[in-house]
Amino acid sequence: MALVTLEGVGKTFRGRTGAWEAVRDFSLELAEGEFFCLLGTSGCGKTTVLNMLAGFEAPTAGRILLDGKPVRGPGADRGVVFQGHDSLYDWLTARDNIAFGLRLRGMAKAERRAVADRFLTMVGLTGQGAKHPSELSGGMKQRIQIARALANDPRILLMDEPFGALDAMTRAVLQNELSDIWAKSGKTVLFITHDIEEAVALSTRVGVMKRGPGGTLKAVVPVDLPFPRERTSDGFMQTFRQVHALIHEEIHPHE
Ligand SMILES: Nc1ncnc2c1ncn2[C@@H]1O[C@H](COP(=O)(O)OP(=O)(O)OP(=O)(O)O)[C@@H](O)[C@H]1O
Ligand SMILES: [Mg+2]
Repeated sequence: MALVTLEGVGKTFRGRTGAWEAVRDFSLELAEGEFFCLLGTSGCGKTTVLNMLAGFEAPTAGRILLDGKPVRGPGADRGVVFQGHDSLYDWLTARDNIAFGLRLRGMAKAERRAVADRFLTMVGLTGQGAKHPSELSGGMKQRIQIARALANDPRILLMDEPFGALDAMTRAVLQNELSDIWAKSGKTVLFITHDIEEAVALSTRVGVMKRGPGGTLKAVVPVDLPFPRERTSDGFMQTFRQVHALIHEEIHPHE
C-alpha cells in the first residue's frame, strides 16, 4: 500500500473576489522511503497541495489518504518545514524548539534533551543548542526546522522550498546534508522547489505541475541516478533537460 494517496484532489478558494480554482484533479501515490520533488511555476498550486496533505487546508474535491486513513487535520505523523526561516519560536532555545513537540507528547526532560541533541548533531549543529533563533544564521535556522520536524519521528517530511531563501553555497551544503539524512533515516519526503537542479540532485522522482488555474500534475520523471549525485554527469544533465523542457512549456505555452 502507498504511504500517501492523493486521489483526484482539488481545491477551490472562495473569497470576496469570487472563486479561484488553485488545484484540479491532482492524483499521486507516494511510496514509503521515496524523495518526491514537486516542481512548477509560481502560483501553480504546489503549496496548496502540501497544505492539504499537511492538513492545514481541506480539499474541495477528491481525497487524501495517509497510511490508508483520510487526512482530517494536522498531525505529528507529518513533519512540516516551511519556506523562509521564521517559523521557530523566538523565546525558545534551538534545543527547546527541536524538543517542543516531544514536550507536548509528555516526554521527560532528560530524554527530550537527549533526543534534541541527537538531531542537533544530525543537522551539523552539535553544541549550538543553547542559542536562540535570533542568534542563528538563516541556514542554521533551516537546519533547526529540519531537526524539529525529524525529532517527532513523522511518517513523512513535507518541505516547502526550505532552501529558497538561502545563498547558493549554503543551499548546496544543506542539499547534501538533507540527502544524507534522507538516506540514513529512510524517511519519505515531499519536497517543493522552483529549482530544477535541486530537484534532480535530491529526488527519486520529480513531479512537474501544469500552471494554474486548476494546477495539476502533468508529468512524473523518475530519477534513477546513484547517490551522491554527480551534477555534471551525462545522466544528471539529461534528466535536467527533460525536466527543464516540461517546465519551459508552462512558462512559454505557445512556443
Ligand atoms: N488562501 C487562499 N485564498 C485564495 N487564493 C489562494 C489562497 N492560497 C493560494 N491561493 C491561490 O492559489 C494559487 C496557488 O497558490 P500556491 O501558493 O499553492 O502556489 P505555489 O505553486 O506554491 O506558488 P509559489 O511557487 O509562488 O510558492 C495562486 O493563484 C494563489 O493566489
Ligand atoms: Mg508556494
